[in-house]
Amino acid sequence: MTSQAGWPAAPIDQAAVARSLRPFGASVMLPPAAYLDPAVFAWEHRHFFGAGWTCVGFGSELAQPGDQRAEPTGAGSVLLTRDDDGGLHAFANTCRHRGHELLECGTTARRNSVICPYHSWTYALSGELSHASGLTRREGFNASAWGLVELPAAEWHGLIFVDGSRGQAGSLSGALAALDEVVAPYEPERLVIAGRHTYDTAANWKILSENYHECYHCPVIHPELCRVSPPKSAENYPPQPAWLGGWMKLRDGMDTMSLDGTSLGVPLRGLDGSALRAVSYLNIFPNVLLSLHPDYVMTHRLTPLAADRTIIECTWAFPPEALARPGFDPGYAVEFWDITNRQDWGACESVQRGLASPHAGPGPLSPEEDAVHEFVSMVARGYQGQPVWTPHEALQPPA
Ligand code: FES
Ligand SMILES: [Fe+2]
Repeated sequence: MTSQAGWPAAPIDQAAVARSLRPFGASVMLPPAAYLDPAVFAWEHRHFFGAGWTCVGFGSELAQPGDQRAEPTGAGSVLLTRDDDGGLHAFANTCRHRGHELLECGTTARRNSVICPYHSWTYALSGELSHASGLTRREGFNASAWGLVELPAAEWHGLIFVDGSRGQAGSLSGALAALDEVVAPYEPERLVIAGRHTYDTAANWKILSENYHECYHCPVIHPELCRVSPPKSAENYPPQPAWLGGWMKLRDGMDTMSLDGTSLGVPLRGLDGSALRAVSYLNIFPNVLLSLHPDYVMTHRLTPLAADRTIIECTWAFPPEALARPGFDPGYAVEFWDITNRQDWGACESVQRGLASPHAGPGPLSPEEDAVHEFVSMVARGYQGQPVWTPHEALQPPA
């Protein structure tokens, strides 16, 4: 089965996928193969992470002209560069000569050209081939035909996204227009990252995302969180094609998510009264979880390595005026969420192990797990062959 827009359906029991797409209240979770099967993972890597917009980091990590960074995506790895005019570029991280990676994945460089480590083919920061030893001056060699393969890249509120479909996914800002109204007052692009943890989890990336979208588990595993935010206070934003999420209230007397509910930072300058009393939890499909607090923004970026392994980079960003305060320590936010993160990862890793039982099967959802149903529906429609980043009106009804 192939969709209109060209995605093949995922190699998974499509009748089980259809059961996940039943209306909320009648649906069940995805079948265990969605979390375990390497063939499904390979399909997801190629399509969810390789044929649409995927987050590959922060613009602040490429602050200067000449900055270069290689990041893994489902479409191989990408080389990001900042050119002399401040423009951002993303290229397939593969040399046009014989395919050597231009920069090792996860590493950075700063120089005024891209130089392949194998035979030193040299490219401009904007991708044109400028030198290939023994070839560039050779008669008949057309250097302009051998520039780097460029992928659409966009910066959105300080996050860098790359479109591995090379343009078929449409405009990022168009797809996120409604989300922009939620995120813009927080000005994440103005904030400074002051805390960072990298977690290596033995769990499928979807288990981590599903866990993020419900607080049904909070009274059981998150005593610290429940002291500052009522677990039953969650409300959702209307469903969108490529993002989902909602918000939860802070308890009276609590200023933010910290162990005692006090903030040692500064309220974000663009927020109104209701935003100062709530935390928004947003998921930009497939790999960014944005948690908007009254005084800081926490970002989880998921990089799946295997069906049962996901790297999570978690950052905490604060306004410059908070960092300027004498003795400012981001630990009040970092410590709270590090405790909560580890509680979550422990639960998610246990789900991963539990789903590997030959007796495991897709269970029903509680009324408090409506956002999980939204997320599962997004994945299930993708499994049926509908590209997630296709504009809403172009989506076909589920089979
Ligand atoms: S593979 Fe890059 S210069 Fe040969
Ligand atoms: Fe949790």
